[in-house]
Amino acid sequence: MNRIALLSRHLAPSPASAIGGQNLLAGKVVLVTGAGSGLGRAVSLALAADGAAKIVLAGRRRDPLDATAAEIASLCGGSCETLVVPTDTTEEASVARLFEAIRAHGSGRLDVLFNNAGVGAPAVPMDELPVSEWRRVVDTNLTGVFLCTREAFRLMKAQTPRG
Ligand SMILES: NC(=O)c1ccc[n+]([C@@H]2O[C@H](COP(=O)([O-])OP(=O)(O)OC[C@H]3O[C@@H](n4cnc5c(N)ncnc54)[C@H](OP(=O)(O)O)[C@@H]3O)[C@@H](O)[C@H]2O)c1
Repeated sequence: MNRIALLSRHLAPSPASAIGGQNLLAGKVVLVTGAGSGLGRAVSLALAADGAAKIVLAGRRRDPLDATAAEIASLCGGSCETLVVPTDTTEEASVARLFEAIRAHGSGRLDVLFNNAGVGAPAVPMDELPVSEWRRVVDTNLTGVFLCTREAFRLMKAQTPRG
């Protein structure tokens, strides 16, 4: 069993989100970046299985996001909504559009942000790493996380109750 399958199994409906008999995910809106593959996909499915009301699926490519949305639909049978928003988290305007879509959909609120979208640098000695690769990693893993977190703070501060 690979690591992702193991994680999916570990995160499948579990008491992790139920404390004192209360499901902490019930009714919650969650944004997962990088939701079309790997950990983001596995966590999106686990959140749906654990009772989240809506999962916003973001990533650059629409097809893998649609595939995750279809898996959630067959898992939840209508008890959980998805919103697919193709997004490049390194681009300020793209992240702004993502949050506009969240504001415009249903309750317009966000309770949880899972900042998962990320890339790795090629496994080469540091003296062989092109600065373009360095910048790609920093743009995605730092600036992308900052942009999503900043927008989430703005939305969560303005909503009642806050996220
Ligand atoms: N797997 C591990 O063992 C491991 C270990 C340490 C850290 N991590 C971190 O955990 C996270 C997930 O890893 P993973 O193994 O699941 O990797 P993965 O399968 O490559 O998933 C990364 C996801 O991020 C998305 N993404 C990349 N750049 C993006 C961008 N600019 N804007 C929006 N989405 C973007 C990709 O979708 P698109 O290409 O469609 O945009 C993809 O769905 C990453 O941040 C990774 O660095 C993983």
